[in-house]
Amino acid sequence: MAASWFSMSSLFSVLVFSVSWAASDSSAEDLFLQCLSNHAQPSNPISSAIYTPKSSSFLQVLQSYIRSRRFMTPETPKPLVIVAASHESHVQAAVVCAKFHGLEMRIRSGGHDYEGLSYVSTVPFILLDMFNLRSVTIDIASETAWVQAGATLGEIYYGIANKSKTLAFPAGVGLTLGTGGHFSGGGYGTLMRKYGLSVDNIIDAQLVDANGTVLNRESMGEDLFWAIRGGGGASFGVILSWKIKLVPVPEVVTYFKVGRTLEEGATDIAYQWIKVADKLSEDLFIRAQPQVVQKGDQKTVNVSFIALFLGPAKDLIPLMNESLPELGLQSEDCLEMSWVETTLAFAGIPKGTPPDVLLNRTTSPVYFKFKSDYVKEPISKEGLELIWKKMMELGTVFMQWNPYGKRMSEIAESATPFPHRAGNIFKIQYLTIWTEDGKEASDQSIGLVRSFYGFMTPYVSKSPRESFLNYRDLDLGNTTNGNTDASVYGADYFKSNFERLMQVKTIVDPDNFFKNEQSIPPRHSSF
Ligand SMILES: Cc1cc2nc3c(=O)[nH]c(=O)nc-3n(C[C@H](O)[C@H](O)[C@H](O)COP(=O)(O)OP(=O)(O)OC[C@H]3O[C@@H](n4cnc5c(N)ncnc54)[C@H](O)[C@@H]3O)c2cc1C
Ligand SMILES: *[C@@H]1O[C@H](CO)[C@@H](O)[C@H](O)[C@H]1NC(C)=O
Ligand SMILES: *[C@@H]1O[C@H](CO)[C@@H](O)[C@H](O)[C@H]1NC(C)=O
Ligand SMILES: *[C@@H]1O[C@H](CO)[C@@H](O)[C@H](O)[C@H]1NC(C)=O
Ligand SMILES: *[C@@H]1O[C@H](CO)[C@@H](O)[C@H](O)[C@H]1NC(C)=O
Ligand SMILES: *[C@@H]1O[C@H](CO)[C@@H](O)[C@H](O)[C@H]1NC(C)=O
Ligand SMILES: *[C@@H]1O[C@H](CO)[C@@H](O)[C@H](O)[C@H]1NC(C)=O
Repeated sequence: MAASWFSMSSLFSVLVFSVSWAASDSSAEDLFLQCLSNHAQPSNPISSAIYTPKSSSFLQVLQSYIRSRRFMTPETPKPLVIVAASHESHVQAAVVCAKFHGLEMRIRSGGHDYEGLSYVSTVPFILLDMFNLRSVTIDIASETAWVQAGATLGEIYYGIANKSKTLAFPAGVGLTLGTGGHFSGGGYGTLMRKYGLSVDNIIDAQLVDANGTVLNRESMGEDLFWAIRGGGGASFGVILSWKIKLVPVPEVVTYFKVGRTLEEGATDIAYQWIKVADKLSEDLFIRAQPQVVQKGDQKTVNVSFIALFLGPAKDLIPLMNESLPELGLQSEDCLEMSWVETTLAFAGIPKGTPPDVLLNRTTSPVYFKFKSDYVKEPISKEGLELIWKKMMELGTVFMQWNPYGKRMSEIAESATPFPHRAGNIFKIQYLTIWTEDGKEASDQSIGLVRSFYGFMTPYVSKSPRESFLNYRDLDLGNTTNGNTDASVYGADYFKSNFERLMQVKTIVDPDNFFKNEQSIPPRHSSF
């Protein structure tokens, strides 16, 4: 097969080259570059995929997919080399050559990692960038699609809608997320209560392993295929593409966004939402978003309710009247539209914007720090009132509450590495966003979100305090002496699935080539 031919021949040429260069005092990156060009297949030359700090477009390429301003500063460590692969052989070459020359690699698809782990490191590294590998190939007859790692969710949603009004895919709200990171970290969105996560709807994948070999589901085996569906791709290999199963949706669905302040009864509504959010019809997903707002010269909390209902408004009104009458949802609040239009609405794009905005890959990065929690027990009204009071004290920290239940509760905790299934009412995301440059502003805002997270301890899961891998948080497992304790973030992100992830890791990447500041360690490694 072509894949094994490649790794045999590449290993051979690496050996030849390293011998001829051994006498010189070339740096590891020079050797790496030599190795890459030595691998150039005449039909797929790699030279145009390579950017070094000497390239005039190096910074522009690097920054195009930095989605967090915290990691866009002059002080942010930069890669030694960027390989913006435009063919799978480039990925193979980058892996083989980086491994051989002892260079660490970071892998980036959409670049949304909350802590920048796909393009920042405390050690010297090369960046393997996947944005050029972004095809979306939809087969309507089989209701499946192959999507490459660098494809964005917007491109997938657009591609599906372009071929069918009644098919969709369960994935995230952020339209520029890359499938390489988003799917391998779980991937949740507004369809999760009916269809589960992205990973629950992935049926095949292509990956380059630590030997530079291209594997698919059959050749990688079920353990590795299990691990990359929620365990994070970056610990196991480079995801090239995924085969996804599309899901049916009605031609007309309903969206609403309404908000109530404390004075308008937000506490009672939120209290009732907590009671019913995970029990509602699987066709109904209602996100709640409590946020401090200024009303005249008073601060208050405004809780927004943002919903997707897989059906017409006339069926939604009685359902809401029965389950969440406190909100007083009116038919004027309900907007009927196609499923793809709801992806725009959830992204905050005004109604009527042409859907090709889904193809826009440009974002305006802000400074942010987000954290996550899971809620398993209802919060009392008194609890809610204390929480609102704390939010008003802190000012800028806000929350997104995403309801679980239904399909999410039916899937076993061990079915995929993503363990947050039955028993969760909702997930909290804590958000803080700021605009001022500099360490002082950053320290202050990060301090606020950490302090609120501390305050929330009594209301959320414990032992472990569960967190969502896609909401990457370097606070987890960061011990006071600055060392990282993998068993802490391992338990928080994966619960008991962490054991199996380490087993898979030990088999497929015993040398721990695929790593980052929060990856899965092989057993017995000095991590
Ligand atoms: C604005 C915004 C909205 C979001 N909305 C949602 C949401 O609705 N639902 C949700 O679940 N999450 C959401 N997220 C979180 C998002 O899912 C994660 O940040 C995800 O990791 C992003 O994937 P990426 O490819 O864009 O990021 P990257 O930063 O490129 O990658 C993230 C991680 O995956 C690794 N990785 C990337 N590509 C590959 C590859 N090809 N092979 C192996 N490893 C790879 C990286 O090394 C890194 O560790 C959101 C994030 C943002 C910033
Ligand atoms: C589908 O995509 C093609 C190619 O981008 C475009 O020409 C066509 O207008 C699209 N069709 C619809 C229905 O959006
Ligand atoms: C509360 O939220 C709703 C929905 O997001 C919004 O329309 C409304 O203006 C907000 N109210 C205040 C006082 O900010
Ligand atoms: C809401 O429910 C009440 C009582 O349960 C009923 O009287 C009323 O007609 C319902 N309203 C709507 C719009 O369904
Ligand atoms: C794409 O989105 C960015 C950020 O929101 C915006 O500034 C830009 O104008 C958009 N480009 C197009 C072509 O719509
Ligand atoms: C980890 O904790 C140490 C000590 O508290 C701190 O100095 C460091 O900045 C933390 N690291 C991260 C990534 O937050
Ligand atoms: C990688 O190659 C080595 C040496 O040929 C072999 O022992 C090992 O099993 C291979 N690893 C995988 C995951 O195929």
